[in-house]
Parts: sequence; C-alpha cells; structure tokens
Amino acid sequence: MQRTKINTVLKLTASSRLITVKGWVRTFRSNRFIALNDGSTIHNLQIVVDFEKMPAEILKRITTGACISVLGHLANSQGQGQAVELVAQNIEILGDSDPEKFPLQPKKHSLEFLRENAHLRFRTNTFGAIFRVRNVLAFGIHEFFQEKGFVYIHSPIITSSDAEGAGETFRVTNFDLNNLPKDELGRVDFQQDFFGKNTNLTVSGQLEAELGAMAFSEVYTFGPTFRAENSNTTRHLAEFWMIEPEMAFYNLNDNMDLAEEMLKYVIKNALTKCADDIEFLSKRLLEEEQQKPLAERSEMNLVEKLNFCLNNSFERITYTQAIEILKESNHNKKKKFQYLVNEWGVDLQSEHERYLVEKHFKKPVILTDYPKKIKAFYMRQNDDGQTVRAMDILFPGIGEIVGGSQREERLEKLTQRMNEMQIPTHELNWYLDTRRFGTCEHAGFGLGFERLVLFVTGMTNIRDVIPFARTPKNCEF
Ligand code: 4AD
Ligand code: MG
Repeated sequence: MQRTKINTVLKLTASSRLITVKGWVRTFRSNRFIALNDGSTIHNLQIVVDFEKMPAEILKRITTGACISVLGHLANSQGQGQAVELVAQNIEILGDSDPEKFPLQPKKHSLEFLRENAHLRFRTNTFGAIFRVRNVLAFGIHEFFQEKGFVYIHSPIITSSDAEGAGETFRVTNFDLNNLPKDELGRVDFQQDFFGKNTNLTVSGQLEAELGAMAFSEVYTFGPTFRAENSNTTRHLAEFWMIEPEMAFYNLNDNMDLAEEMLKYVIKNALTKCADDIEFLSKRLLEEEQQKPLAERSEMNLVEKLNFCLNNSFERITYTQAIEILKESNHNKKKKFQYLVNEWGVDLQSEHERYLVEKHFKKPVILTDYPKKIKAFYMRQNDDGQTVRAMDILFPGIGEIVGGSQREERLEKLTQRMNEMQIPTHELNWYLDTRRFGTCEHAGFGLGFERLVLFVTGMTNIRDVIPFARTPKNCEF
C-alpha cells in the first residue's frame, strides 16, 4: 500500500479507510502512544497501539529513533494536541534503533551538542523546521527571479580568478603535495598542474554573471561559494551559498529597489508557506531569550520582526552619513564600541552595522557610496574620486546580508583602478571584453543565503542553518 505523508494525514478526517504511514519514532509512551515524524511537517502523528493485541516482540522494538511503517485508520483523538490519531492495526519495524545508544534522547539538547551530531539533527523539531524553511527560501528565490524573466546562470565553481581580490581562496590542485614540481626559480610550477595554471574555488560568481547580463540583460546565479577567511564568527562560513543577480541597464537605485523587493518577497513567501515551522521557531526563540537579562531581550518576537521588515521601507543613507551618526552616537562617546569611529574612511565593523540597524533606525538599512579603498575594484567610481557606487544591506541581528554595487562600465576607469590595486588586467581580459564590446550601465548584488536563513529562522549561529557547516578546523560529515 502506498504511504501517505504525515502532513497530508493530519489534514484528513476520521474514517475506517486503511492508510500506511512511515517515519521515525520520536517517543513511545506507556506502551500505547507513538509520536511519529516523517519530516513532512513539524507535527508528529500520534499512533495508538493496543498493546494487548500487538506482539511483544514488536512492542519492544518501538524505540526512539527506530523507523517504522504503520497500517491503521484515522480516529478522532481523545487526547489534546491533535484532532486525529492513527489506530494501529499492524506495525512493521523497518529499522531498529538501540535506545541506549541513540544520541537523540526525548529531551532538549543544546545546539552545540546537535552541531556535533549534525548527521542526526535533521530529526529534531528545531532542525526539521530550519531546513524546511531553508528549502522554501531557496525555491522562493528561484520563483522571484523566474517570474521576472531572469536567466539562471551556473557560474563555475573552479576558477583562476579571485573576484573579490581579498586573497581568501582555497587552492584547487591535483599535485602530489609531497612532491611539488618547481620551475627554474624554485617556485611551484603550476603549468604542470591539472589546469595548467593556479586555480581556486570561487569566492563569487559575479564576474561570470556580468558576462551573462551583457547578453540576457538580467541573470542570476545561486551556488556554493568558498572563502578561506579565518574568522570564527557566528556569521561566517568557509562554504556558503550566494545568490548573485546581475542586471544590464540598472543603476544603483534600481539595484537597491530590486534587492529590497526580493528580500520582502522571499520572507513573505516563507511566512506563508512555513507558518507552522516559523511559529515553532518563534516560540523557541522566546524561550531562549527568556534566559537573557531583560534589557537584552528583543522587543518583537520572530513573526513580528519578519512582518515589521515586510511593512517598512529600508532606510537608505550614504556611508558618509552613517559615519556622522556613529561618530556622534552616545555609544561612541561612551566608548561602548570595541572599535571607536573617529574618521571617515574606516571599514564598518559588525557592531557599527548593528548599532545603525538595531539602535538608531530600528529597521533594515541600506548604506551606499562607500570609500573606494575599502571596496572591490569593479565598483563604479563616483565623480568625487573618493567613493564608489556600492550598497550594503544591513539587517537586525545579522549586520550585512547583501553586498552589491553599480559596476564600472567604463573600460579606462576600470583598468586604471585595477592597476592601482595591482590586479593583473591580462588575467581578466575576458572580463574586460564586456567593456570593450557593447558595454552599458549595469549593477548587481550578492545575497548571503545562510544569513537570510538566519534572519528568517531567528537562529543566531550560522552553523545551525546550513546542513553541514565548514568552518576553520571543522569539516566533519
Ligand atoms: O559582500 P560580498 O563579499 O560581495 C560579493 O561577493 C559580490 N561579488 C556580490 C555581488 O555584487 N554580486 O558577499 C556578498 C554576501 C555578503 O553580504 C554576505 O551576506 C555573504 O555574501 N557572505 C558570507 N556569508 C557567509 N559566510 C561568509 N564567509 C560570507 N562572506 C560573504
Ligand atoms: Mg560585503
């Protein structure tokens, strides 16, 4: 008999019709009530067992973590918490689980413990909810762009360029590292390597996306991104997923409008399609916050926070204005920032970004026109000679969630900036060709997918919103 998924079963009414469900036992109480979950919903299906009729052999194998198949019919539930329950006629054990050894006990585990047991954490309420939300967010992003006619481009994962120029790349090689071929000068001879040159994992698909935009007008990428940043923070991963739209005929304002529209679309989509999961995560967050001192608790619960973000325009200010606000802030004057803001030109730290969003404006903020010396080579230069058409979107609890810019479409200005920054132009000849042949005004941005998932799930550590986190000194599973 075909299996019915639990999310479907829970919408049915009582009937004598027999159905089959399959899933993993969360708990088995009093030899009578099984809480079964198959991952299709946060809710468990209650299964009622008549222990006098069920063989003892089977009963003792119904343990937390075991995988079972149940044939039965739906009855109105006498107990609280569910409208219907499945009255078991037959139970088959598909996979046993030793209750003494199964790491997930029917109790609350710390997130740290679950990170170490990430191979099993999908089977908990919290991680079930997080990864269903992640799934819906990913699909929502595709829906948003597809509805607008953007073309999805698969940018390469192995490349020879460092698009962000930050030198934080992971090398790709098939050399025998104990026996590296050298050239006459004693340097590693990459000509003998697999690709005949030095290659690395991509830090961004933007440069290739720009090539696509110069043909399809509007494109996006959505792929894995790798950065060997040695920053062990709750916001950084060595392997993360990034969405990078790139649009011909867009200036910085069009770019900001699109980013804001996209964020609101995907958040709203998740709120609608994952209402139960987000409700659960909202309660989880409330419980977690109750451990904190009053002053540190947020004023809004998760659902309110998401709705607040949907219902307000993001504040748009320049970097220069932001520096003024930060310099004049009581926080700065009372030296509450770890990095004090004294002069124009400094890079903003996450504490500054969060101050602007959480304390000053109390809503998402888009900062524009950053000093050129703290931004990448490809951003369009402003006439002041000091700033570029950059934009970063800052979110409460997260800091930077999107980084983007209008691109420098003028060949001369671009090569001049590359020379100043010592980026070899001959290696990026293919990129410069877009400026040689039919260049035009264009812009794009990158959304850090896990930072979006963090925001929507209310989780606080980025390791908890990607199935298997890769961070410094950690590559398990
Ligand atoms: O600001 P970034 O470095 O911008 C770019 O890579 C551009 N090429 C994007 C573009 O214009 N097409 O990165 C974009 C976003 C950040 O705002 C952040 O959300 C996320 O990617 N991000 C990370 N997320 C997790 N772990 C890391 N190590 C991240 N580094 C950046
Ligand atoms: Mg950035």
